Amino acid sequence: MTTCRPPSEADVPALAALRNDLPTQYALLASPRPNTHDDVRAWLARRSSDPAGLFNVVADETGAAVGFIQIVGIDDRSRYGKFGIAIDERRRGCGHGRAAIEQTLDAARRDGRLDKLVLYVAADNAVAIALYRATGFREVGVHRRHYFAPDGWRDVVVMERFLAAAP
Ligand SMILES: CC(C)(COP(=O)(O)OP(=O)(O)OC[C@H]1O[C@@H](n2cnc3c(N)ncnc32)[C@H](O)[C@@H]1OP(=O)(O)O)[C@@H](O)C(=O)NCCC(=O)NCCS
Repeated sequence: MTTCRPPSEADVPALAALRNDLPTQYALLASPRPNTHDDVRAWLARRSSDPAGLFNVVADETGAAVGFIQIVGIDDRSRYGKFGIAIDERRRGCGHGRAAIEQTLDAARRDGRLDKLVLYVAADNAVAIALYRATGFREVGVHRRHYFAPDGWRDVVVMERFLAAAP
């Protein structure tokens, strides 16, 4: 069973591992820097107090953190937000990603400020793109040479999902 819940102090080591995992951070199109546990606490505090965001830890059946999922930059005039997810590399392929996305789509509908989620994903991230398609996102464009990864430029696919539409 997968749950999405607010972060707690006990999650800091697992989330620090994720924040310091370079392949995961590059998959998130980030510019990673080393994160101490205090950096992670500050990041969690920022995310949790951001009125334009919804942030949750993704937890397994024991309640332990396996990743995080977020909507940031909620534009309450145009009614969209920017979606992102990361699951610990050792815990992938167990259904946590898909379950967390489904739960977050429900949470986004309940939130009341959102009609649509948008996201950006590297064009060569086939696993993530397949998962997003399977959860009702569709590709709406490609930014060419948009993310400079350690081994070179990536095209970045733009996807969106209207919350009212069935997958
Ligand atoms: C994308 C990501 C969140 C998926 O999380 P996950 O917990 O592995 O997802 P699931 O276990 O629900 O698997 C989703 C699908 O991907 C497939 N999958 C997972 N890992 C796979 C792999 N290594 N190779 C092929 N398929 C894989 C699963 O079979 C599943 O397909 P199905 O639903 O048809 O059976 C995870 O890979 C991740 O954190 N990647 C790094 C960060 C990232 O890329 N984030 C998104 C970029 S914006």
